[in-house]
Amino acid sequence: MKRVGILTSGGDCQGLNSAIRGVAKGLYEYYGKKVEIYGIIDGYKGLINGEYKLMKPEDFSGILTRGGTVFGTSRQPFKLMRVIDESGVDKVAEMKKHYAEMKLDCLVVLGGNGTHKTANLLAEEGLNVVSMPKTIDNDIWGTDVTFGFQSAVDIATNVIDCIHTTATSHGRVFIVECMGHKAGWLTLHAGVAGGADVILIPEIPYHIDKVIDCIKSRTKSGKTFSILAVAEGAVSAEIAELPKKQKKEAMANLMYPSISYKIAHEIEEATGQETRVTVPGHFQRGGSPDAYDRFITTQFGAACAKLIIKEKYGFMTGMVNGKVVPVPLSEVAGKLKSVPTDSKIIKAAKDIGICFGD
Ligand code: F6P
Repeated sequence: MKRVGILTSGGDCQGLNSAIRGVAKGLYEYYGKKVEIYGIIDGYKGLINGEYKLMKPEDFSGILTRGGTVFGTSRQPFKLMRVIDESGVDKVAEMKKHYAEMKLDCLVVLGGNGTHKTANLLAEEGLNVVSMPKTIDNDIWGTDVTFGFQSAVDIATNVIDCIHTTATSHGRVFIVECMGHKAGWLTLHAGVAGGADVILIPEIPYHIDKVIDCIKSRTKSGKTFSILAVAEGAVSAEIAELPKKQKKEAMANLMYPSISYKIAHEIEEATGQETRVTVPGHFQRGGSPDAYDRFITTQFGAACAKLIIKEKYGFMTGMVNGKVVPVPLSEVAGKLKSVPTDSKIIKAAKDIGICFGD
């Protein structure tokens, strides 16, 4: 009997259930009744606390289009994994204990950057681990694309589309704040797809005067409105230049609910134009996966099942140049895939006059 545990960890996103379905169907297809799949509840928390359930094949039917995760999820910071907590729980030891208790041959982990650091830790501890890359941020190293990303881009683009009609009616400046603290992929793609006039991402620190100049020159040319797509992690050039600790303090003491509100205030002061902020927030992570995310998660799931069948452990399924390939967990863990500032997308956007504040 083959025994496989599956968990989803970190922030949820679209496509988790579709990926779970893909790996489960791939395993049942090959092993038939000779495989047992355990659903581990709420991510690593369930593995630490021994909360899991034996699944039936029918549990994986009808979940292709469902948002969220059927197993639940939680954030368990990697930096605390080796820290014994107040009640004396050794998290790593408990995870290994419950892995052994389920008699697992392999643990399948679906998650983002933090999740992959812990996945690699568990692999180093001798567990058989394979993983799939999920996050709307698209910032996992070793894969061209993560699942959840495209669905979030679709939602954020739709927000920018809707904002266009109200911005034009009122002749206002609008900021649409997209998720992404460290990486600007979502803001960049939605900004370009939605026709934003200004795109501000963490990778390109902005000068507020450049942003204001862009809005003023639009007004001068007869455009009555402007739309900005701003990543929640966008940072001004002055703050970006500060040493790490001071930078963190400056961001924590913004005096505004988020960076977008500060930028909106500065624009309104300088241009006199009414400026509003729209924050779609977790809406970007909700609802059904789009067709593309269903398409790639089905491939990731099938590839993950293949890795388990071949007993090829310690890998994440990545998408590289349109092909699903195994990427060593040790290479993925601890790295961030930022938007390259010389990327072709940024170049094309600048070529059509989109301002990045640099
Ligand atoms: O990592 C995905 C993400 O949605 C980020 O874009 C965002 O900054 C963060 O999670 C929000 O986290 P939480 O769901 O814990 O508020």
